[in-house]
Amino acid sequence: MSANIQSLSFGSQDGNQTLDTIWGRRSIGRLVEPAPNQSELTALLEAGSIAPDHDRLRPFRFIILSGDSLDAFGSILAERLTARLALAGMSPTEGQLQKERTKLRRAPLVIVVAAKIDTSSRIPEIEQFATAAAAAENILLAATSMGYGSMWRTGDISYDEKIKQEFGLSSTDHIVGWLYIGTRTDSSLPVAVQVPDITDLASHWTP
Ligand SMILES: Cc1cc2nc3c(=O)[nH]c(=O)nc-3n(C[C@H](O)[C@H](O)[C@H](O)COP(=O)(O)O)c2cc1C
Repeated sequence: MSANIQSLSFGSQDGNQTLDTIWGRRSIGRLVEPAPNQSELTALLEAGSIAPDHDRLRPFRFIILSGDSLDAFGSILAERLTARLALAGMSPTEGQLQKERTKLRRAPLVIVVAAKIDTSSRIPEIEQFATAAAAAENILLAATSMGYGSMWRTGDISYDEKIKQEFGLSSTDHIVGWLYIGTRTDSSLPVAVQVPDITDLASHWTP
């Protein structure tokens, strides 16, 4: 038996900084310098590292791409696109290759969040993945609270075993997301999103 939850529209509440940050986080496709500085980056990673974590396994890893590494890793992404398409007997266009080479430059900082699964643990893999995803959201919210724009991206590159190997991950680990972080410009438009009607998504269970 269930009863509908009444929508309270907390999003516009004044004075609650946490809710303002949660509602202020929106995916921004193009971000520019400045990126978070070294101490801000440390704060972002520490925010990620204190995500809820069953048995304190720390089942997450953060790989930082910035500066020249964005271009160097872009070359690897292009090579991997070529390899993936070759498996299907295809080859990429120059435009596709150029997109792979440059896509990481959509922000000055990319934090790759990985789920490092402890397969010997009693904690199910899905819970370890959930912790890594919570770490990713913590990072995005921390970046938002510092005034930075961000975007969580995935795509085929997240499921490519060779790319996982580049990051020192094994086949049982997962790339949870590529977190693009930087400064918004006047022309930065957030992805259009409709706030869901919570009454469709939640209910009170009653006996
Ligand atoms: C696990 C995950 C993967 C995502 N991957 C992509 C992606 O590959 N490309 C993309 O444009 N957006 C991606 N997004 C961002 C969503 O499209 C975005 O969160 C959604 O449109 C809602 O917009 P908002 O973040 O502004 O609320 C991803 C989000 C999550 C949580």
